Amino acid sequence: MTKRRQEQFQKVVLAWYAANARAFMWRQNGDTPPDAYMVLVSEVMLQQTQTSRVQEKLPLFLQQFPTVHELARADNATIIKAWQGMGYNSRALRLRDCARAVVERYNGVIPASAEELLVLPGIGAYTASAVSAFAYHCDVPVVDVNIRRVYSRVIEAMLTTASMLPEKVVTEFAASVFPHGSSSEWHQAIMDLGAMLCTARSPKCDDCPVKVLCASAGKMQEKTPQKRAEPSFRGVPNRIWRGKIVQMLRELPENTTLPAEIILDRLFSAALFEDTHQTEAWLRGLLEKLEQDAIVRIISECKQQNGIERMMLSLATGESE
Ligand code: ADE
Repeated sequence: MTKRRQEQFQKVVLAWYAANARAFMWRQNGDTPPDAYMVLVSEVMLQQTQTSRVQEKLPLFLQQFPTVHELARADNATIIKAWQGMGYNSRALRLRDCARAVVERYNGVIPASAEELLVLPGIGAYTASAVSAFAYHCDVPVVDVNIRRVYSRVIEAMLTTASMLPEKVVTEFAASVFPHGSSSEWHQAIMDLGAMLCTARSPKCDDCPVKVLCASAGKMQEKTPQKRAEPSFRGVPNRIWRGKIVQMLRELPENTTLPAEIILDRLFSAALFEDTHQTEAWLRGLLEKLEQDAIVRIISECKQQNGIERMMLSLATGESE
């Protein structure tokens, strides 16, 4: 993209954002940058959870853990209960581990540089750059899947709505295109453009302020992106089964346990299974993985290989590995 087009791109996007920005509690409010801890928690939540759900859950989470210090002190079961409705419980444990590292290494102050953030537990390239840009206004490029989609379409004519440019090409563009001094505003503007107009499935090119500069505007064939097949059982992803099991354990009274056989009954209700052995072996595998992830605790072992007899469960209370 030529320098002139780049400047035009910046101008139209920022003008559009000034009039259309979505208001979120984790964003800049007037001249006050948002608290870095709130940005960190919100960005971890937003990785796999919709903004509307995060808006609802974030205030409750911050009420329970107002600073990085309270979060650092939380045990696994407390965190998993607080993460209810968010999915992917191991993300919550990694976030707590990150809070501990911030307390130990930085006296509870979240670092500003993407390099320092990146080596904290559970922090990937996206989260490191997002916290650095949104909380501290550092001049770093931020790229998530939505930003990558918008940039790909702007740079080169995409054949379908599911097409994207290689990561390397997008990363190079991302580093040169954002207006220095406005990284926070710019990247949240591109995110909003991606969420409101340049959507994954049916982009609204006619309404887009970037259409005159965009190589793909009005040209893409609508195509649903291919989903990766996930491990499933009886047609339902294991991720959903795991969520159901963890929810049963969240609802247990303090200091009580649940037999695996009851879990099996509740999951499959009265459905009689002709494949009991296979179902038990599957459940056992799922429970063992949850135990490895420090999400559940298996209290008594059953003797029968692949069986679940006399297996008792609760949420894990100890430390994650
Ligand atoms: N998705 C990830 N980060 C976001 C943010 N800061 N605002 C809106 N959506 C997001």
